Amino acid sequence: MAFTVAIDGPAAAGKGTISKAVAAHFGFAHLDTGLLYRATGRRTLDGTDPVTAAEQLLAADLEAGDLRTPDVAQAASRVAAIPEVRKALVDFQRAFARRDGGAVLDGRDIGTVICPDADVKLFVTATDDVRAERRLKELLGSGHDTDYDEVLADLRSRDARDSARAAAPLKPADDAVTLDTSTMDIDAAVAAAITIINETL
Ligand code: C5P
Repeated sequence: MAFTVAIDGPAAAGKGTISKAVAAHFGFAHLDTGLLYRATGRRTLDGTDPVTAAEQLLAADLEAGDLRTPDVAQAASRVAAIPEVRKALVDFQRAFARRDGGAVLDGRDIGTVICPDADVKLFVTATDDVRAERRLKELLGSGHDTDYDEVLADLRSRDARDSARAAAPLKPADDAVTLDTSTMDIDAAVAAAITIINETL
């Protein structure tokens, strides 16, 4: 039986951490859809046309080691505004969502466009300051050279672009449950998500 959990929200709100933990808890598969846009964006940094990059995306591209950098994040957000890029990535995401055994997808438009009929929709948020601190810790921990101001500027500019675009903008679905993780640690945020999903299962 297919059971789909859609988790959307702004950059670095905790979607990835929550999605992974929720998928592990329920034994569901997990797709970080941001990786599709990051891998596409990364290929455009070599001069590849964005639509071609999206159409030719390979599973191996999602394994590339340098998809987490702010440069790639910005490139992802730029290509994500192009309707033809989004269109090239829809079928893969919908097929993943429909797989037997349950699936968690996280991104910006999962509850609104990719899986409007998802069984559970969460919109995960946190204040700009909390998100920037969390992402800074993550990036420094993985050896990236950056600082608070740079991380905050990246998050804010991507959120602004992602929210303002005409194609599948970042916004909560009408029937999404909002989870503000500003004052929660990881365990509390994961527990809250699991409680919401259990109410539907
Ligand atoms: O989630 P992550 O921060 O890795 O996503 C990188 C960028 O990819 C976002 O800023 C957004 O522009 C784009 N994205 C999107 N739709 C999704 C997932 C990511 O437009 N479903």
